[in-house]
Order: sequence, then C-alpha cells, then structure tokens
Amino acid sequence: MSKEYNISVIPGDGTGPEVVAEGIKVLKKAAAKYDFSLNFTHYNLGGEHYKATGEILPDKALESLALSDAIYLGAIGHPDVKPGILEKGILLKLRFYFDQYVNLRPVKLYEGVNTPLKNKGPEDIDFVVIRENTEGLYAGAGGCLKRGTLDEVAVQESINTRKGVERCIRYAFEYCRKRDKAKRLTLCGKTNVLTFAFDLWERAFNEVAKEYPDIETDYAHVDAVCMWMVKNPEWFDVIVTDNMFGDIITDLAAMIQGGMGIAAGGNINPDGISMFEPIGGSAPKYTGKQIINPIAAIMAAQIMLDTIGEQKAASCIEKAVIKVLRDDLKDVAAGKMGYTTQEVGDLVSENL
Ligand code: IPM
Ligand code: MN
Repeated sequence: MSKEYNISVIPGDGTGPEVVAEGIKVLKKAAAKYDFSLNFTHYNLGGEHYKATGEILPDKALESLALSDAIYLGAIGHPDVKPGILEKGILLKLRFYFDQYVNLRPVKLYEGVNTPLKNKGPEDIDFVVIRENTEGLYAGAGGCLKRGTLDEVAVQESINTRKGVERCIRYAFEYCRKRDKAKRLTLCGKTNVLTFAFDLWERAFNEVAKEYPDIETDYAHVDAVCMWMVKNPEWFDVIVTDNMFGDIITDLAAMIQGGMGIAAGGNINPDGISMFEPIGGSAPKYTGKQIINPIAAIMAAQIMLDTIGEQKAASCIEKAVIKVLRDDLKDVAAGKMGYTTQEVGDLVSENL
C-alpha cells in the first residue's frame, strides 16, 4: 500500500497563499509520480483572521495540527498588526509548542541565479545553517520595570540549556555526516564576550565531537562568520549556532544564494511534527499581484518531503527547480522573473 501523509497548510498572510498554492501544485504532482498520497488540511490563521476575530492561534487549532505529519506554512506578518503579535503568537508559538528545535536552512547558489558576491559561483556557495530554534534570546525570558519613565529598565536574557544545546549540536553532526560533503562543522558563537552562554555551547560541541571523529570541527565568532560568508563562502559546509545568531546569519546567507525568492527552511523536531516555510515573509507590497517567486515555497515543500521520508520525490523537485532556474527564469526577484507566480509553479511541475 502506498504511504499517506496528512499535511497541515497555513497559507497565512500577504503573498503566503499565492506561493503555497504553487508548492501544493508541485507536491501533488510529485506524490502522483512517486506513488504516495498527501491529504491537505487548510488553516485560516494570520493577520486577516486576527483582525476579523481577535483569534491568534486557538487551542483547537493546535490540537488538530498535532494530528498531522507535517505543517506547510506560507508567511506570517501583517502591516496593520503590531509587530510581534502574530510572529510570537503563531510562528514562534508553533516552533515552541511542537518543540521544533532545529531550524534548518540550506544555502545553495543554483546555476543561473545571480549572487551579489563578485567572482563567486555555484561551486563556492553550498552550505547549511543549523540554527537552534527553541531557546536563546527567543525564549522570552526577561521583563521591564518602570516602562516609559526615565528609570526604565529592560532585560532580555538568552536561555541556553545543556539539553537544548546538545540536541541541536548532535543533529548538526549527524546532518554533516549524512550530507557527506566537506564533512566540516563550524560552531558559530561569541566565546570572547558571551562567556557563559557560549562556554556551554563550546563544551557541548567539543564533547559531542568526540563521537564524530570523521567530522572536522571548526569555530568562528559570529562577526567573523559574517565576514567569511562574504569573502570565502566556500569554506563553509555545515554551521551550527544559537537562535539569534542563526536568525541574523541566515538572512545574509539568503542574500548570497540569490535572495528571499529562493531561500527556504525547515523547523524540525526529528521525533515529532516539523514545519516548513519560505523564509521571505509576507511581502505585503506584492500581495495578490502574482509576481512573487514561488521557488522558496516550492523548496520548502522539497525539504518537507526529504524530511518525512520521500527523498526520491524531494530530489526530483530539486532537479526540476534547478532546470527552471537555469533555463527559464530571467531573474529570481519579484516582478523580474519573466513569468507569473503561477507560471513558475507550472514550469516546475512540468519538469518533474
Ligand atoms: C525567521 C523570522 C522569524 C524569526 C520572525 C518572523 C519571528 O525572521 O524565521 O527567521 O526571527 O525567527
Ligand atoms: Mn529571520
């Protein structure tokens, strides 16, 4: 009997629904070709739903999301809603609730895609960032006193647990081994200043490393990682880092791989329910225009299939995307592709 997967879909805000529709188009085609089936359940969550109902992410939605095999998310963020409400209330809540402790962000420059880095090509830009996804500055620890007065105090603390750090590092070593490229894992930290948090990270890293003698270990401060990423991106194979640094360096990384139209990621709980998303956000100014690039959303679907165990279908999607980027699209930026959002989805589907 062929395998069946229940996929929860949260199209979300802005251009989320447009790009998710193309991802689903490609997923359906891949499922038919590789003989598995996907049942999609849509959830109406996001800025519009919040404005209309006051509801952000109700418990009943969490209960039913918990029954799915994976979550496919478009974008969260609405220009009329105060920053933080939807991001914390939906996106971060889902990451924490489902304990998706790894944020996986492949950074690969495909042929035919422009990078702003001079003299660098696809052979130089091919690495993966593994960002811790449930702790650090994102844990929400802290508070403020005397807000709005001259005596105001604001404290926001980075929480790093040995367990949380170690499981992320272990995932990174395993990933690096499975990827089987340069077999080099770089810890990105700030041991020269954040002498408590990154002392813990460094000790956990060095201890786990002993179990992986086949992996070369490497360390760089986060500021140096930014420098190397621009100067010598070919150095990197897999990078592991904390939540905040991971957030920052993956935007830089997205730019050198061609921009937000391409960049995708997974929020992974290896023993639970993972969630996959294009990392570009809701892009309100492009909403409804059919000019946004759906490749990032299609690649998020690709990472989803790879993670749930449909590697053949996943690699077929990647090949189709490679072909479309190389032979068809004029540019990856919104409005410059030479095709509409739907047409790009059709092109990838036809090439499967
Ligand atoms: C990301 C985003 C989120 C984050 C925001 C929207 C909360 O920037 O996925 O990188 O900071 O993690
Ligand atoms: Mn980010």
